[in-house]
Amino acid sequence: MLVEKFIPKAYSERVEAAKVRHRAYSNIALVKYWGKRDEQIPMNPSISFTLSHSYTETVIEMAPRTDFTSSFQIDFFFDEEPKDNFLPKIETFFTRIRNYIPFLRDYYFVIRSSNSFPHSAGIASSASAMAALAVCLMKIEKLFDPEMTEQFFHEKASFLARLGSGSACRSTYSGVVLWGEHSAVMGSSDLYGIPMEDVHEVFNTYQDTILLIDKGQKPVSSTKGHQLMIGHPYAEARFLQAREHIAALKSILKKGDLEGFMALVESEALALHAMMMTSDPYYLLMRPNTIAAIEKIWYLRASTQKPLCFTLDAGANIHLLYPKAYKADIIPFIERELKPLCQDQEVIYDEVKSEP
Ligand code: DP6
Repeated sequence: MLVEKFIPKAYSERVEAAKVRHRAYSNIALVKYWGKRDEQIPMNPSISFTLSHSYTETVIEMAPRTDFTSSFQIDFFFDEEPKDNFLPKIETFFTRIRNYIPFLRDYYFVIRSSNSFPHSAGIASSASAMAALAVCLMKIEKLFDPEMTEQFFHEKASFLARLGSGSACRSTYSGVVLWGEHSAVMGSSDLYGIPMEDVHEVFNTYQDTILLIDKGQKPVSSTKGHQLMIGHPYAEARFLQAREHIAALKSILKKGDLEGFMALVESEALALHAMMMTSDPYYLLMRPNTIAAIEKIWYLRASTQKPLCFTLDAGANIHLLYPKAYKADIIPFIERELKPLCQDQEVIYDEVKSEP
C-alpha cells in the first residue's frame, strides 16, 4: 500500500534536541466529510476553505528521554497551563503514527498549544490542533532527514494530521483543499489532502463570518456522528451525492460561478444535517436560532441579490460565506439582523487564507 512511503528508513542525521513551532489554521468544509472506515479513510472526498484568523499555535521541544515507564514521555500545556486531561488524545495520536515517526519513542516531548479563538466558542479545534502538531513533527523529521522534498513534507504532514482528525488533513494547507480520492482530480488521495488548483480569484477573497449560535457542548460528538453513518439507510446515496458535488464544485471554483457555489454549499450543509436527523438514534444539532438565521440569509439574498450563503459544521453555528467585495454591504446586515441571534451576540469575522 501507499502508506509504506511514509515509513522512514534509517535517518541520515543524528538529532540531540529540537524546538519547532507551527501555526495551523482551522478550515470549513464546503463538501462535507461525514462517514469513515478503517484507519481514518473517508467514505467520500471533501473540499474546504482554510481560514485566516482561527488558528492553533503549537511549540514542541524535544529532548533525550529521561523516563521509560510508559510508551511515550510527553508533557502538555494549553495556554501555559499543564493539561493532563488532553494527554490521552495526544497519546492515542502518537500510538497511531509511531510507525511513521519512529523517534517518538526515543525522546521527551514538551508540547505547548494555544488557540486564537476561545475554547468555549463551540468551534471545533481538533482540525487546527492536530494539523499544528503534525506539521511540528514533520519539522522535526526534517532535521533527521534534511534532504526530504517539499512535496513529501506536505504530503506526510497532511497524512499524519489525518490520523489525528480527518478534517485536520485539510488544515495543513491554505486556500482551497481537497481530501479524498476522486477521478476528476489528479493526485487526489484518501490518505492526505492536496491544494485545489485552478480556483477563480474571487474564492481567495471569501469571507467566513461565524455566527456563534450556541457555544455549548454538542449533544452528539462528531466521532459518534461518523459511526452512525455505518448502516445508515441513506449512506450510499449521500456518498454518491458528495462525489457528484466534488466534480460540480471543481468546475464552479474554476469558473467563479457564485450562483452555483451558493446552491451547492447550502445543499451540502443541509444534507449533512439531514444525515444526523435520519441516523439511528436520530439527533438534531441545529437550534431554533440556526433556522431563524438561515431564513434571514435567504430573505436578504432574495431581496438584494447579494451573493451570501451559509454552511454549517457539525453543530448549531452558521458560517456565512461571501466575497470580500460585498463586505461593506453585508456587515451592517450581520450586525443588525444576525448578531442578536447569537449567544452573547458573538460572531467571529474570518476569511480564506489565500497566502501559504
Ligand atoms: C462535519 O474531522 O472532526 O466538520 O476524523 O473523527 O476527527 P474525525 O472527525 P472530524 O469530522 C469533521 C466533520 C465535519 C465535516 C468536515 O469538516 O468535512
